[in-house]
Formats: sequence, structure tokens, C-alpha cells
Amino acid sequence: MAKIWCSLWIIAFFQLCTCTFPKLEQVPTPPLPILPLPTYAQLKWQQREIIMFLHFGVNTFTDSEWGTGHESPGIFNPVGLDANQWARTASDAGISLMILTAKHHDGFCLWPSKYTDHSVTNSPWRNGHGDVVHELVDAANPRGIDVGLYLSPWDRHDRRYGHEIAYNQYYLAQLQELLSRYGGVREIWFDGNKGKNAPNMSYYFTDWFSMVKELQSSINIFSDAGPDVRWVGNEQGFAGSTCWSTINRTSLSIGNASIEDYLNKGDPKGTDWLPAECDVSIRDGWFWHKSESPKRLSKLLEIYYNSVGRNCVLLLNVPPNPTGLIADEDVQRLREFRSAIDAIFSTNLAEKCSIKVSSRRGGKGGGFGPENMLDNDHLWTYWAPRDDEKESHWIEFRSTGSDEGLRFNVIRIQEAIGLGQRIKRHEIYVDGKRVVNGTTVGHKRLHRLGGGVVHGKIVRIKIGDSRGLPLISSIGLHFDPFWHPIGQPSQ
Ligand SMILES: *[C@@H]1O[C@H](CO)[C@@H](O)[C@H](O)[C@H]1NC(C)=O
Ligand SMILES: *[C@@H]1O[C@H](CO)[C@@H](O)[C@H](O)[C@H]1NC(C)=O
Ligand SMILES: *[C@@H]1O[C@H](CO)[C@@H](O)[C@H](O)[C@H]1NC(C)=O
Ligand SMILES: *[C@@H]1O[C@H](CO)[C@@H](O)[C@H](O)[C@H]1NC(C)=O
Repeated sequence: MAKIWCSLWIIAFFQLCTCTFPKLEQVPTPPLPILPLPTYAQLKWQQREIIMFLHFGVNTFTDSEWGTGHESPGIFNPVGLDANQWARTASDAGISLMILTAKHHDGFCLWPSKYTDHSVTNSPWRNGHGDVVHELVDAANPRGIDVGLYLSPWDRHDRRYGHEIAYNQYYLAQLQELLSRYGGVREIWFDGNKGKNAPNMSYYFTDWFSMVKELQSSINIFSDAGPDVRWVGNEQGFAGSTCWSTINRTSLSIGNASIEDYLNKGDPKGTDWLPAECDVSIRDGWFWHKSESPKRLSKLLEIYYNSVGRNCVLLLNVPPNPTGLIADEDVQRLREFRSAIDAIFSTNLAEKCSIKVSSRRGGKGGGFGPENMLDNDHLWTYWAPRDDEKESHWIEFRSTGSDEGLRFNVIRIQEAIGLGQRIKRHEIYVDGKRVVNGTTVGHKRLHRLGGGVVHGKIVRIKIGDSRGLPLISSIGLHFDPFWHPIGQPSQ
């Protein structure tokens, strides 16, 4: 009897509980990612947007682009070298990573390497006690700027070049010096250039890359074939108007001209996350030449739209001069470049609009609403449609003012790439008229409207096709006062 009473009490107690405590509302979870995904270091790299390259060395004093390797260290004497001026210039331009040519093809080393006498040690600069790499690190790090390095595999000076084992050992020894003496190095740059005197010599990239990762855990390795950052396939600073961060690494090799188009566009079916870096110089040459001057602001902006605005990072070379300073005119141009970018993107007209979307994951208050596209987090807060929304994903901005509507000429779209790159096709309509027929988006897609300034009340973005559901982290409608199209198409 006692048993029965006891059971009844337990049943009654549980019924009481279920009645008085409401069912727990489940918080909608983020959707599953679509592989491949970026690593932490790749995401950090992508958010830098602009990186500075500094080509500096004996070529700076001989007015050449490729040194012969026979230059005397005696010519290297940048009497006014001030790495603080370089770092200040980068900082003022909003740049957070500076990559220095520690050694170019001529073989002259900007740091005192113990494996060669062809270095700053035998130059008159700082009486042979100088170290450019060290001075750069000391100037950059206190300003919150990271450092990267380029160590040319092709060496036109060292006698070991052409002797495969001996040269690979020499190269690796220098790599170890650079990656263990100077603290954190965030990017290392490799190319496959080779001398005609050693066509059959192999560079042991696999050994080199393994050693790099062993010595620097959060570094990104750049080369034609990655493994962390790929070349964009040209030196104009232009990515493809379709540009995937995904690609098949097995189809890539270093120094192979026939893959340039593949590098430029990437691969929607790619199994590796390997985003592209667009290298270009602010002047014609990579090294400083008296006869050259910096590109016009309009050219730099075109490069920005075609690199950063096409899901890539811009690696902009700014060469120090023989005094050891970045020339005033380059400093000035970089300042204009930064203030132009800030002016264009500081105002987002979409913030003044009402927004409608095709659907939202988890419903209203579910955490994936369109307001996430207008906050300051361009990575981890995003609009997501419902899982069962099969096609016809769209977002609509409607001007709320009673005036003449919106006046803009740039549209910015950003995907939540932390969960994979997804969008394959998108179209944009203003008051029912199509102004963009586009493909990929990725981290950041910028459309400068070819028809010029648009006046309208309703902007509708249609995602035509994507790998899984599109996840959009940010959208902007901007006005670019520097853009004067002369009949250019909007791609
Ligand atoms: C490079 O290899 C090719 C093919 O094996 C050979 O014919 C050529 O003589 C080699 N060149 C040199 C410089 O060793
Ligand atoms: C260059 O790339 C093409 C296309 O992927 C490939 O067929 C070829 O074997 C590659 N050449 C070398 C030397 O790797
Ligand atoms: C890349 O790899 C994927 C998966 O193996 C394959 O489907 C795709 O066709 C490859 N892309 C190219 C261009 O070979
Ligand atoms: C839009 O672009 C795609 C691919 O670039 C193309 O196939 C299609 O014909 C274009 N549509 C129109 C109407 O121009």
C-alpha cells in the first residue's frame, strides 16, 4: 500500500512540475558550416585588407629591379634610414602588416646572417652593425603592426646556388635565423623564380614549409600554391570578377604560368581554403627609382575595388628610397588613399532604410535577423534564411524618408566566411531595374555602379545560387565621390 501511495505522490509531483514550469524555449543554433573553412590565421589575414610590401636592398642604390649578385655591399648606405617613418606611414594608411624583402634575387641580406658575408655587416651603413629586419620589428610592433618577410629562393650571389643539397641547406639555415630571432612573423612570402644556370635544381619547398610552421605557429605561408595564401595570378592587383577562396591545391604548383587563370578565379568545388593575395606596386617598379612616381589616387582606388572588393587582400608595395625613407609623395598618396576609403565607407545609407528579408532562421528574435547586416561585426553576426527556404533568397532595403530616396554608387556585400564561402550568383535591382549581375561575394564584394550615381527608393539583392544557404554578415550602400565612370560596365 505504501508503495502505491508513494508512486502516486511521485506522479503528482511531476505533473505539478510540468504545469508550473513552462517548456524551455530553445535558442536557435547557428547553421552547419560548408567546408572548407579558413584557419584562425587566414581569417585574421583576410580582415587586414591591405598589407604593405617593402622592396629594399642593393637595387635601391643601383636603379635596378633584379640585381646581378655582383654588387658590392659597400654601395648599401641608407644614411637616413628610419623604420619608424615606414611604420608611421603604414599606420596612417590603416595597414597592420608590413612585409620586407630580407633578401632579393641578388642575394644581399638585410640582416647580419652568420652564413654569408654578403650582408649589411660588410656595408658602411651603421658601420656594419645595422640590421634592417630588427629595426623594422622594433618600429612596427609597438604600433601594433605585424611583420612579414620575403627570402628569395633564387640567389644570384651565393656559390652554393645550383648545388641542390648545399643550397637548400643554406636557404633553410637563413630561414631559421629569420624565424627564430625576431619574434612573431605573420606572413612569409615564397616565389619559384630560378636562375638559368640551375634549371634542374629543386627548391625543397616541403622541407621549408614544415620548418616555417614549426618555428612560427600563427604564420601564413604565401606562394603560388599556398599552403595558406595563394597568388592571384598577375601583378596588376586584379582578382577575377568571380573569385573563390577555395581551390584544389593538388592542381597547383609553384612557378607554373598555365595556372594563372585558375589562381585568379579559384574553384567553387575546391577542397582547400586558399584565398588570394593581390601584389602590386604603388609605382611601376618594385624597387625605388628616381624616374618613377606613385600611381594616381583613381588608379589605387580601382585596384582596391578589384582586389579587396573581390574577396582578396591587397599587398601594396611601397619602396623606401636610397636615403632609407618612404618618399614624401608616396606618403602623401597613401594618406589620400586611406582618407578616400574612409570617406566612401564611413556613411552607410542602408542604415536609414527599413529591411525585409525572404525569411529568417529561428524567426523574429532568433538571433539571425537582418539587423545583423548593419552592426559592426562583419564576421560572426549575420542574417540567415530558414533552413527550409529552398531558393529565392532576397533582402530588400526601402528608403524611409519622404524625400527623393537614396543616392549612391557603391554596393557592398559581405558573407559570413567563418562558415564557408557560399554565394555563386547574385543580382541587385534598384526600383525594379537591374544594376548588377554578379557571381561570388566572399569576405567583401564591392560593386561600383557603371551607370554612375543611382537615385532610388528600393534596393533588392537576390541570391540566385549558392552552396547551401547564404549567410550575409554586412551590407552597405555608399557614395564614392571619386568615381566618375565613362561608360564602364558594373563588373
Ligand atoms: C637538366 O636536365 C635535362 C633533362 O634531364 C638535361 O638534358 C640537361 O642537361 C640538364 N641541365 C643541366 C644544366 O644540368
Ligand atoms: C602546370 O599546370 C598544368 C595545369 O594544371 C599541369 O598540367 C602541368 O603539369 C603543370 N606543370 C608543372 C611543371 O607542374
Ligand atoms: C577540385 O576537386 C573537386 C573534388 O575532388 C572536383 O570535384 C573538382 O572537379 C576539382 N576541380 C578541378 C578544376 O579539377
Ligand atoms: C548574368 O551573368 C551570367 C554569368 O556571368 C550570364 O550567364 C548571364 O547571361 C547574365 N545575365 C544577363 C541577363 O546578362
